[in-house]
Amino acid sequence: MTRGRWYAAAQVVALLLGGCTGGDDDRFRPGAVDAGDPYVPGAGNGGYDVEHYRLKVRYDPGSDRLTGEATITATATAGLSRFNLDLAGLTVDRVDVDGAPAKHRRDDAELIVTPAHGLPAGRRFTVDVAYAGVPQPLPIGELGSGGFQATGDGAIALGQPESASTWFPVDDHPSDKATYDVEVTVPDGLAALSNGVLRSRAGRDGWTTWSWSEGSPMASYLTTLVIGNYRVSTGTHAGKPMVTAVAAGLPADGPAAASLARTGEIADFLAGRFGPYPFDAYGGIAVADDRIRYALETQSRPVYGPGFFRAGRPDTRVVAHELAHQWFGDSVSVARWSDIWLNEGFATYAEWLWTEHDGGRTVGRAFATEYAATDWTRPSLDPGRPAMFGDAVYRRGALAVHALRRAVGDDTFFRILRGWTAERRDGAATTADFVGYAERVGGRPLRALLDAWLVGGTAPALP
Ligand code: ARG
Ligand code: ZN
Repeated sequence: MTRGRWYAAAQVVALLLGGCTGGDDDRFRPGAVDAGDPYVPGAGNGGYDVEHYRLKVRYDPGSDRLTGEATITATATAGLSRFNLDLAGLTVDRVDVDGAPAKHRRDDAELIVTPAHGLPAGRRFTVDVAYAGVPQPLPIGELGSGGFQATGDGAIALGQPESASTWFPVDDHPSDKATYDVEVTVPDGLAALSNGVLRSRAGRDGWTTWSWSEGSPMASYLTTLVIGNYRVSTGTHAGKPMVTAVAAGLPADGPAAASLARTGEIADFLAGRFGPYPFDAYGGIAVADDRIRYALETQSRPVYGPGFFRAGRPDTRVVAHELAHQWFGDSVSVARWSDIWLNEGFATYAEWLWTEHDGGRTVGRAFATEYAATDWTRPSLDPGRPAMFGDAVYRRGALAVHALRRAVGDDTFFRILRGWTAERRDGAATTADFVGYAERVGGRPLRALLDAWLVGGTAPALP
């Protein structure tokens, strides 16, 4: 045997051995166990990108038991010997990858899946997970609890920065957005609300299945599931379905219902400033459970806690805030949580715009008042996890947005906003991306200005 032939034969043997040993094949490695975002250790995963979640869940408020089937379509971004999904609590009965049984085990809130064969980089694959149990909320420390919470008559699954992994297996980080079909089966008479368009509602044997479909890529924390006694209104607005729901425990003609009723009008106002409304459906859900102490911009259908309406008057400011997030946060998402001001700064600024339009405090007054109230020692950009919903993010973020407007002028400012939401629609972005874009459209350097407003340790001079 010449050296060349011997070498070729050895390669064939190595290839055969490699094929047999699978896991030792160095084309395939375990995917990362999280997205590497220091604000949410453990959340997200590496080695693949999800395109679509098809979820079928059944929830019985009598027993608090949820049974689920998730079909996840993804593409491997690296050769994978195994990969993780995020799943908090619940018991996994079966996992198939491309129709073949896969090994699976749990490590705390991680579901570790080892398919029968490695998945080459670029391969599109399907994961089916059958699971069940009594879902538990996630303790998210200083941010309160998030995730699935039973309410007696039903449940509310909601939370930022994490929530989804309490009711379905997920790549739980906003850097991996996907479309969704969600079928929720609940006892007849209860509402089962989620994101997007209501495709059908069908009853059988005392249970009703509500089928929802979100056709625009959605970050997992923007998913919601709200089950219980609700007054549901369906209609259309600007040619798209509008579904609003008010908890039966809140008055039918009270401030929550009156605030939600202005959803279409406020969305239209914002569309005039930010560009076309980015999704296929409109809506809102007012819950009565006091544990929900915030509102959240769940995609196409924000959820509002009862505290906003306690004063007995409608609160359209919070509606403007959550609707503004449909552009800033939902359609254009943060690629990592340290950039959360990109969501909250613009949503707070939208409150100022709406309030002025609605006959209240002018934007100029808002800017002056908030400027005077600001603690400049706390940064808006990369505030640290405990402060991700703090004043520095919301207030300083909005001040920075207005400082940009003053610096470039109204025309350029609104061209920047409309161009940014169009260019980055359905995607994710960083602060550097935004500054770069604003500089391109503005035709001048803006980084030093935005730095001063976002992270400078002392009050910047008024522009
Ligand atoms: N993004 C929400 C808003 O519209 C805030 C959520 C606050 N979350 C929390 N756990 N406190 O401002
Ligand atoms: Zn917000």
